[in-house]
Amino acid sequence: MATPLKHIHLGAFPLDVGHHIAAWRHPDVPASGGSEFGFYRALAQTAERGKLDMIFFGDQMAAQYPEDETLGRTSRVTRLEPTTLLAALAGATTHLGLVGTVSTSYFEPFHVARKFATLDQLSGGRSGWNVVTSFNDKEALNFNRGEVAGHAERYRRALEFVDVTKRLWDSWDDDAFVRDKDSGLYFDPEKLHVLHHRGEFFASRGPLNIPRSPQGRPVIVQAGASHEGRDFSAGQAEVIFTAQPNLQAARGFYQDVKSRAAALGRHADEIRIMPGVMTFIGRTHEEAQEKYQRLQSLIHPQVGWIVLKRHLGIDLSGMPLDEPFPELELTPDFPSRQKLLIDMARGDGLTVRQFYERVVGARGHLLAIGTAAQVADQFEEWIDGQGADGFNLMLPWLPTALDDVVDLLVPELQRRGRFRHEYQGKTLRSHLGLERPASHYARAA
Ligand SMILES: Cc1cc2nc3c(=O)[nH]c(=O)nc-3n(C[C@H](O)[C@H](O)[C@H](O)COP(=O)(O)O)c2cc1C
Repeated sequence: MATPLKHIHLGAFPLDVGHHIAAWRHPDVPASGGSEFGFYRALAQTAERGKLDMIFFGDQMAAQYPEDETLGRTSRVTRLEPTTLLAALAGATTHLGLVGTVSTSYFEPFHVARKFATLDQLSGGRSGWNVVTSFNDKEALNFNRGEVAGHAERYRRALEFVDVTKRLWDSWDDDAFVRDKDSGLYFDPEKLHVLHHRGEFFASRGPLNIPRSPQGRPVIVQAGASHEGRDFSAGQAEVIFTAQPNLQAARGFYQDVKSRAAALGRHADEIRIMPGVMTFIGRTHEEAQEKYQRLQSLIHPQVGWIVLKRHLGIDLSGMPLDEPFPELELTPDFPSRQKLLIDMARGDGLTVRQFYERVVGARGHLLAIGTAAQVADQFEEWIDGQGADGFNLMLPWLPTALDDVVDLLVPELQRRGRFRHEYQGKTLRSHLGLERPASHYARAA
């Protein structure tokens, strides 16, 4: 019997009015949409019409990009707070998974446990937490610190943070609340677990003042690619969002993380790896290329060089454009993205100009430009080549790029037997094919 085709998981990842740095200048784009609920509601409803697994919001807690805030040429200076936005979207959708980014560096576990447990209750089991450690000094300056903590410390803190959060989510057994009006017993005290946590970074007595949520625990998503980041993902994450520029790199990452997870006693199938991809989909290949070139032509060079410097950590603006990529030293303690970008430039033999065009556009993520059939071919190659379980779609300009996914790509994937026609369940876990976790206490018993 033929092996069934592996289904593809898809997340819609809006960022302001589009991931492309020049999105706000595109004539189709409502430039103020990134601060308007109606704009996000329409996006979420489109994603749900396309039966996507989830909508995903990254986050930065500081105005981004301009080194010089007075430059005035970028839309990356405003961003709505993700959990508040997701709570509003919960009421505007019925099935779509709702994933938001919250940092482990500036909050307390009790705070985050409460937010996502609440979102899980409000949405009937559709919430997911993208755990980030925060590497940006501009954020530190907004939270009473002069700079970010070192890389290793941030991951130690993240590990304790997630562990405490998960235990808080398990404060009540699933059947703790009997609410028996006749006997007058509201909850069964034997099914309450008070945490009494005291660790290196946090102390939290517990219990969480929210019942165990529909998914048991919200889905843990993570994005971090260094050795510490991979170990963290392997132990904690259920979905991994990652930047992978080509299949070979993606396959290496996929195998590495899944084998680290196996070494920790987890099953490879407990983790979904979803690289970011920026899609430009057209009815013809030429139309897709035109869509891409249109946005590229709107990048203001002043903004372009700043974006490049932010991702690479090195200023290339004075370099000759058409010479081969220079030899560069890695900056200690800089996020893993720097190495990924330098490897990409060397591996693909790029000039400085080609590197600029690629990074400022897709920021080191996969770029898929073509017809729905061509993009579907590329997705299938990555899925069958064990480079991905799905993709987080970094929509370059909105709402058009999401409409193109839902109206062109999704039907193509459905025709190929790679994507659902209808949601099979109501929770994010069920869309992702992830089990509802037993509570720590049920497992211990
Ligand atoms: C694909 C990807 C997406 C990320 N998204 C965010 C984000 O939205 N907000 C944030 O503060 N950090 C984000 N990060 C940063 C990570 O949480 C982490 O701080 C950073 O990557 C450094 O860790 P690493 O060296 O293990 O990669 C992202 C990282 C990656 C690789």
